[in-house]
Amino acid sequence: MKRILQRYEAGEAAGHAMMPETLAGFIDLPGNDFNNLIQQLPPKVEDGLDHSGEDGEGRDSFAATIGGTFYDRLLPNESLHFAISMHSLHWISQVTDPSSPLYNKGRCWILGGDLAITQQFAQQSQRDWHKFLNSRAAEMVPGGIVLAYLLSREDPVHPENQTNLERRHRYMAGPDFENTWNDLIAQGVITAETRDAFNLPIYCPSKEEVESAVAKCGAFDMQCVEWSDDSDLFPEHERLRLLQYPHKFATFYSAWVRAMVGPIMEAHMGLQATNEWFVLHERRMVARATSLFSNPKGQQEYKFLSATFLLVVLKRK
Ligand SMILES: C[S@@+](CC[C@H](N)C(=O)[O-])C[C@H]1O[C@@H](n2cnc3c(N)ncnc32)[C@H](O)[C@@H]1O
Repeated sequence: MKRILQRYEAGEAAGHAMMPETLAGFIDLPGNDFNNLIQQLPPKVEDGLDHSGEDGEGRDSFAATIGGTFYDRLLPNESLHFAISMHSLHWISQVTDPSSPLYNKGRCWILGGDLAITQQFAQQSQRDWHKFLNSRAAEMVPGGIVLAYLLSREDPVHPENQTNLERRHRYMAGPDFENTWNDLIAQGVITAETRDAFNLPIYCPSKEEVESAVAKCGAFDMQCVEWSDDSDLFPEHERLRLLQYPHKFATFYSAWVRAMVGPIMEAHMGLQATNEWFVLHERRMVARATSLFSNPKGQQEYKFLSATFLLVVLKRK
């Protein structure tokens, strides 16, 4: 976004182009707290005072919130010039229940799980990509750009390998996550059925799956599709420093997991059971960091908060 603005500003300075007025639409599911988001938008002018309404001038960028799923139409035909989707397109649309073929008994996520169920997730992901791309194709002007940044996996053949074997432990929903549910069941806080009914609707597509979805849609030219390790989420020296303090690390890491999935856990099993889940999770994370204490190689490899991401840039034909 900054680069686009810089290009316009440079053009304007050279007398070539006027800065166009822009409307940014922030999209999330209807349950999202849009008030919080709107309150964080920067003030219109640098002095922080609201000069609106004086002469109807003075603002060239506007913001709106749009509550709805991006797997459906959200905007009028040919009204969208630029779309950015960050860290979101790996969330598939279906919520699983016991009658669904995506129901994942015995675990919460598909990492290392049952191949048949994982293949159902793969099919759901393809259906979702189809809906996402066709909706954006209708909404975009010719030449419009979609930029998406999402979790991806390197193994093109086995969808159960949502990440490589040696990276499993660093994923939010890796073994520590699954085992905390076992701990909660062992303590009698919830039943195994309650755990079985909690399924994370996340699917990390391979590069090939994304390319195939784009080709099937046919409305976009692929400008770029490349992997990146998202290590910037947490700087390397901070990560290694935090691992020296297992309790601090555990508090930080559990809070991060809670920010990601706490609300859907609370909706599923209530606040009290969720609080107890996070106490047990924190305990596991203390043990995880302690086990790496005199193991510098293990600490190097334990790159928590880093994952394989795919950057996809599409241009509407
Ligand atoms: C991990 S957050 C990423 C938020 C933000 N884009 C960022 O990078 O910080 C994923 C967001 O996607 C939203 N989301 C998931 N599925 C969605 C859907 N089908 N339609 C719209 N938003 C969705 C979730 O509610 C959540 O706010």
